[in-house]
Amino acid sequence: MEWSDDEFGFETRAIHAGQGPDPVTGAIITPLYLTSTYAHSAPGEHQGYDYSRSGNPTRRAYEDCVANLEGARFGFAMASGSAGTATIVHLLSAGDHVVACDDMYGGTYRQFERVFKQQGIEFSYVDMTDTGNIARAMRKNTRIVWVETPSNPLMKVIDIEKAAETAHAGGALLAVDNTFMSPYFQHPIALGADIVMHSTTKYINGHSDLVGGVVITDDEELAQRLKFLSNAIGGIQSTFDAFMCLRSLKTLAVRMKAHESNAFAVARFLEAHPKIASVSYTGLASHPQHDLANRQMSGHGGMLVCNVAGDLAATRRFLQSVRVFALAESLGGVESLIEHPAIMTHASLPQAVRDSLGIGDNLVRLSVGIESQADLLRDLDRALAAV
Ligand SMILES: Cc1ncc(COP(=O)(O)O)c(C=O)c1O
Repeated sequence: MEWSDDEFGFETRAIHAGQGPDPVTGAIITPLYLTSTYAHSAPGEHQGYDYSRSGNPTRRAYEDCVANLEGARFGFAMASGSAGTATIVHLLSAGDHVVACDDMYGGTYRQFERVFKQQGIEFSYVDMTDTGNIARAMRKNTRIVWVETPSNPLMKVIDIEKAAETAHAGGALLAVDNTFMSPYFQHPIALGADIVMHSTTKYINGHSDLVGGVVITDDEELAQRLKFLSNAIGGIQSTFDAFMCLRSLKTLAVRMKAHESNAFAVARFLEAHPKIASVSYTGLASHPQHDLANRQMSGHGGMLVCNVAGDLAATRRFLQSVRVFALAESLGGVESLIEHPAIMTHASLPQAVRDSLGIGDNLVRLSVGIESQADLLRDLDRALAAV
């Protein structure tokens, strides 16, 4: 059955798209096909699957479902978000150029600078909150414009529609890392993006119990190339983890609403707190791109950053005093996490780059979970008393 987005809502598609009752047993839940290989009836004749790196029915159900939720036809489940990024960049050859946003996940920057640069791919980093900077950085050999929005950690919002127009005018593809919003709150393909990637380690899986990634496109030719690369490089997601992600998609909508509701409460609480110098949450009117965020996202998600009114020692006391929030890297799980980007998630950015972006000693990132709101606010209040 086709689960078109004209006919069915997000919640329905998250539960049904890509998955019918099992044709053999009627099982409602897509079985976990733990097999590496498949019997042929004659050499070269099989039922669509020959080897699980190339394709697996459980992974396929999940890929179809997650692509559907992004408003696209083709999905490729990868072993991690980073494997997804690497698969996309493998579309390029030595001598090609990428324009990327200046604020993004530190591991993406590390991969670009320390893996692909050595293979002859060139990178420029610009502040894309002014999309004019993209056009100015584009060259004849620019093949990909890489956007992460909202960005990690500074929550900068980039206009996807304008970025797509600029990339396409210069003959480049637009790739969007949609990890922070998940397909529930943002649809880059509808705004003109050619490729969407997620670290599914985050909201898509949502329970902090696996590492995964996904690459999605609605373009048939690009899909063929990505399919080739995912099989040839082999960075595919394990069948078990694809099963877990498929299971998690069913509750993505309810989780995202709960994350957002708690994040709003935390953002407002922190904004009013005397020990907090500033808060950046796209849902607050004080966010510099609040209007753009309202236009291109249908909600604001569970991520925010704040600057503690104090030095590194004060910030450390805050981070070490939380009890419900866990001091940990990663994000997007049901449990609330708090971390220090300069020392933890973004340590792979050179100090000079961190300084120029404003990732300082008192910057704290929060991934607001879905625990009781009152418990989260009480926890932060108690921890801020230690600042
Ligand atoms: C926005 C974003 N993109 C990509 C990644 C990389 O994903 P993974 O850790 O699954 O390789 C992360 C990880 O933190 C991330 O936050």
